[in-house]
Parts: sequence; C-alpha cells; structure tokens
Amino acid sequence: MTVDWVASQSGPLRAEITVPGDKSVSHRAVMLAAIADGTSRVSGFLEGEDTRATARILGQLGVRIETLGPSERLIHGVGLHGLVGSDESLDCGNAGTGMRLLAGLLAGQGFGSRLVGDASLSGRPMGRVIAPLTAMGANIQARENGLPPLIINVSNGLQGIDYKTPVASAQVKSAVLLAGLYARGETIVREPHPTRDYTERMLAAFGWPVQFSPGLARLSGGHRLRATDVEVPADFSSAAFFIVAASVVPDSDLLIRRVGMNPRRTGLLAALRMMGADIREENPGEQGGEAVADLRVRHAPLHGIDVPAPLVPDMIDEFPALFVAAALAAGTTRIAGAAELRVKESDRLTVMAQALSTLGANIVETPDGAIIEGGKLHGGDVQSHGDHRIAMSLAVAAQRASGEVRIADCANVATSFPGFLELAAICGFGLAAA
Ligand code: S3P
Repeated sequence: MTVDWVASQSGPLRAEITVPGDKSVSHRAVMLAAIADGTSRVSGFLEGEDTRATARILGQLGVRIETLGPSERLIHGVGLHGLVGSDESLDCGNAGTGMRLLAGLLAGQGFGSRLVGDASLSGRPMGRVIAPLTAMGANIQARENGLPPLIINVSNGLQGIDYKTPVASAQVKSAVLLAGLYARGETIVREPHPTRDYTERMLAAFGWPVQFSPGLARLSGGHRLRATDVEVPADFSSAAFFIVAASVVPDSDLLIRRVGMNPRRTGLLAALRMMGADIREENPGEQGGEAVADLRVRHAPLHGIDVPAPLVPDMIDEFPALFVAAALAAGTTRIAGAAELRVKESDRLTVMAQALSTLGANIVETPDGAIIEGGKLHGGDVQSHGDHRIAMSLAVAAQRASGEVRIADCANVATSFPGFLELAAICGFGLAAA
C-alpha cells in the first residue's frame, strides 16, 4: 500500500515526548534471548516491522515468544543448539540488520535456511557478510553480485577468524561475531573505524565471555548464553528527527526523554552543536546497560560546517536529517567519506539531494557526500523512495518550507517508527497522511 503525507510549515514545536525503542538493540535482544538458556523478558522492544520480522523468524525457527503487552516480549530461549529449521523462507522485510545478523546466526546451524526481503532489501549488498562467513567455513549462496535471497546451506562446521572489515559496519561485525559463537576457536573483528557495539555489550550481558574496545572485538566458541532481561532504550535515530526539527523551527523547545546515548550513535549531536544548535543533556542515567539522557532542544540559528570524517560512522543513519539542517543553515556544509549512504534503504545521497533540490535547496552531490548551500525551502512534490528515514527527514524539512510539501511513499516509516505521525502532531508539526 502506498501512503503519502502532506506537510506544511509549523509554529513552534513544544512538547515532552518519548520515542520508541532502539531498533539495533531490539533486533539483538530477541536474537540472543532466542538462543539463550532460559526465559528473557525484553521491555521497550521496538514494535516496528523490521524488528517484528526478526521475532517472527525466530518463531519460525522454534522459539516461543509471548507478547505480554505493547513492547513487552517474553522469549523462551531454546539454547545455543535448540533452533530448528523451517521449510518456509525467512522474510526479513525491509531490514538489513535482520538479514545480515541472521546470516551470521544461521551460518553455523545444523539446518539450512533461505533469507528473503522486500524489493529494497533485495537490492542491498550481502557480499560483505558472505565473504567473512564463507572464510569461516559457511556455505552461502546469493544472486549475482551477492544480492538476496540468501541460501544458507549446512556447512562442515565453522572455524574462528581474525577479520579486518573493509567497511565500518556494525552489521558485518555482528554477523561475524554471531557466527563465532558456533565456531571452533577464536573470532576477532577489527574495524577501520569503531561502530556501534551493541552485539558485544549484549553478549556480555547474556554471560558470554567477550573482549571489546572501540574498533576491536574478540570471542571464542563453546560457551553458553544465560537468559537475562533487557530494557531497550529509546532510539537515538528516531529522536534525531525531532532534534533537527526543534533546532530549525523558531521558538521551539522540545524535551525528548530517556534517549539512548551510546557514543557510537550520537555523532549528530556533535555535528549539530558545531553548527550552533542548543541541545542539553539532562538527567543522565543508565537503562539496560546503555547510557540514556533526556535531551532538551531549543531553536538556535545554525551555520554550515565541514562534517569531520571521524563522525561519519557515529551518525551513519542521521545524514538525511543532517541534510535538512544543512539546507536551512547559513553558509555551506560539506559531507565526505559517506559513500555507505548509497547502500542504505535507498541511495540516500541521491535521494536527499533530489528531494531537497525540488524544494529549492542548493545541493551538489559528490561520489561520497554532498555540498549543501543553506537557504530557504519552498513547497513541492517529493519522493521518499520507500525509505523511512527519508520520509521523516522530508517531513522535518517541510516544517520550514514556505509552501505545502507532498511526500510520496511513506508506508515504510512503520519499519522503524510506529506512531511517528501521532508524535509529530503532539509536537505541533504540520503533517498528516494525504
Ligand atoms: C545497524 C548498523 C548500521 C546502521 C543500521 C543498523 C546495526 O548499518 O546503518 O541502521 O544495527 O548494526 P551498517 O552496519 O551497514 O553500517
């Protein structure tokens, strides 16, 4: 079903809100709970299509998962070797995280699996996980150029690996580590730039011996996971749309509660602060082993910056939102070293450049980034290309556009942010389903 939105300039955004649970943490929590010994309770689970697809797949593989209420799951772990194969395809939907991490988890099982996804996921590169998993002894087939579906055949057993990831990718690191649980000997992953460490932290929480530091993770096979309860923090990437919106709409003052503040996720805060944003962290605390804080964001005049290269992996999902901030800032913003954006749910460099240009922005796309001259935006018809983060970012842009913005193809917002329209309305956005 196609869902379109119509969005227009808002008055000040003023509210106290909580955004849904973290997508990365929710995927990992159900996966590790599924193969642990005992029953784990996951609270704050993201009720998004991506994470529900992962839970559904684990159900297909014999794991009983009870829904106790919204965002509450009781997962009856089957132990490291307790999953059973399914004759049906395992449908990951839109979720790259689901497919890549499950490829690692399933590579060392005593049964075969077939992982499939929607049109967007079927065009995303899986060679980056197939290569290291094959080097570990896995037997995985894909379409030409490593595209899904993935056929995972029974292997002759996995062997640990010392793997240097060619691109900074938490999904690749995590796939290798999850396969490493089933491998003989030690598995080491070295990264060109540190990426989010949720898999490592959650393995430790489930009692698996794992050593890790920024850019490095190592573990050995042959242990067991012990059930544990997981409290999922609110997703920083979902908060990002409101952080940018409050920064760019005059007189705004938003409080976003209990947001996950893992430093490998919060690069956008550093970039926006360099641009002059007024973002305060209040009430710092901890939830489920992750740092959390309330974020108070007030409108402030922004100016362009050169986004520092080391920040790129720490804000990899936030570039669509940053493009909007840059298009409304005074002066020039330069983004480089972000070619990975071309293989996300859409080619985010091209799609954001096209959409914001349609709204009057002055953007030059480069092979690995963009040069954005800040200015004013007007109304127009734009395409999200079925990419959840593009749709939400364009809704934010519209809050400062002089005319109505019609955004096509927004149904996939439900993959990561159920209830976005309602929460945006509470904040005062001019936004509705068309
Ligand atoms: C994720 C890692 C990132 C990110 C994605 C979630 C994860 O992908 O873009 O939304 O949960 O590990 P890459 O590993 O491809 O950079």
